[in-house]
Amino acid sequence: MGRAKRVVLAYSGGVDTSVCIPYLKQEWGVEEVITLAADLGQGDELGPIRQKALDSGAVESLVVDATAEFVRDYAFPAIQANSLYEGRYPLSTALARPLIAKLLVEAAAKYGADAVAHGCTGKGNDQVRFDVSIAALNPDLKVLAPAREWGMSREETIAYGERFGIPAPVKKSSPYSIDRNLLGRSIEAGPLEDPLHEPLEEVYALTKAIANTPDEPAYIELGFEKGLPVTLNGQALEPVALIQQLNAIAGEHGIGRIDMIENRLVGIKSREIYETPALLVLIQAHQDLESLVLTADVSQYKRSIENSWSNLVYNGLWYSPLKAALDAFIQQTQARVTGTVRLRLFKGNATVVGRSSELSLYSPDMATYGAEDRFDHKAAEGFIYVWGMPTRIWSQTQNR
Ligand code: ARG
Repeated sequence: MGRAKRVVLAYSGGVDTSVCIPYLKQEWGVEEVITLAADLGQGDELGPIRQKALDSGAVESLVVDATAEFVRDYAFPAIQANSLYEGRYPLSTALARPLIAKLLVEAAAKYGADAVAHGCTGKGNDQVRFDVSIAALNPDLKVLAPAREWGMSREETIAYGERFGIPAPVKKSSPYSIDRNLLGRSIEAGPLEDPLHEPLEEVYALTKAIANTPDEPAYIELGFEKGLPVTLNGQALEPVALIQQLNAIAGEHGIGRIDMIENRLVGIKSREIYETPALLVLIQAHQDLESLVLTADVSQYKRSIENSWSNLVYNGLWYSPLKAALDAFIQQTQARVTGTVRLRLFKGNATVVGRSSELSLYSPDMATYGAEDRFDHKAAEGFIYVWGMPTRIWSQTQNR
């Protein structure tokens, strides 16, 4: 009696998820494994992956193009939330997991599977994101995570696969663990496990080294409508194309590299390298535009909402009541976030150099130090008298 009869497995084409196929069948008595590879704009050819799953023993090999949905429903809300986990990581990997979970749950329903599976180990955040998202979407579905239990080393995993016709990787396999999608790349492990080790140039693929970036800056203009990027340099672009083009321009100027020590949900610190050119530039521009069009109190209050939002998404609670409530707050604030932001891209830095909006709250007559000044300077005195009242009274008691 196996753990499940028919399983939909999240499939990447790598050795680990390939080995999951015979492992589920041989060791856990699963009768049929259906694989699901999600195209999230990672740029891999998915045709060979489809065949690889079948060669590894899958009865059915699904490939779902979810790039547009990924950008529209997962990346764009993250831009509106200016989301940066621990102030730095724009959640490029974390955002993909709830979408993959949704695709697994949908496929399980369509194919009558009684379980879904993934190849995550027991040490990362991704297992939490998958398991909790799946539970939120269908609490009756079993989740199988063979790599969390099999206890095989890399070599043993490869050897196990070879017994079932899964070829060992041809080139000497990279020491890094890499996750990739349209939003960027996450790189960990190998020599990066030493926090003091400077990442070799070989870890990067989307961003140029500063030594090779152009010696002239590039100026770009990003247009936003209700908090969503809609134009690049005045040209209206579909969301996916906008991110692709911005990744190319920003990457060319060496923008988007992050090297950080990050606190995982499972309690350990890990060394992470990210490259997320477009996403970082978009968050920077969006946040700047908000500072022009949102009132001071909304803008400042939103920072704490953004922080909570980022933590929830990092920690696997994409489908949760608190996340939905925070989304409602964020959506309410975005109605005004329409306008244009101008940035200079140069030698690894994106710098906002200008912004404009029909809904700008910047008041030139009030702000100016020139002759057009309409601000009533005398009124400040009464305001300060009242504003400073509690401090004055407190100070007097100090001296008693
Ligand atoms: N630490 C990042 C996160 O939790 C990236 C994880 C990358 N995953 C991977 N399988 N390499 O979002």
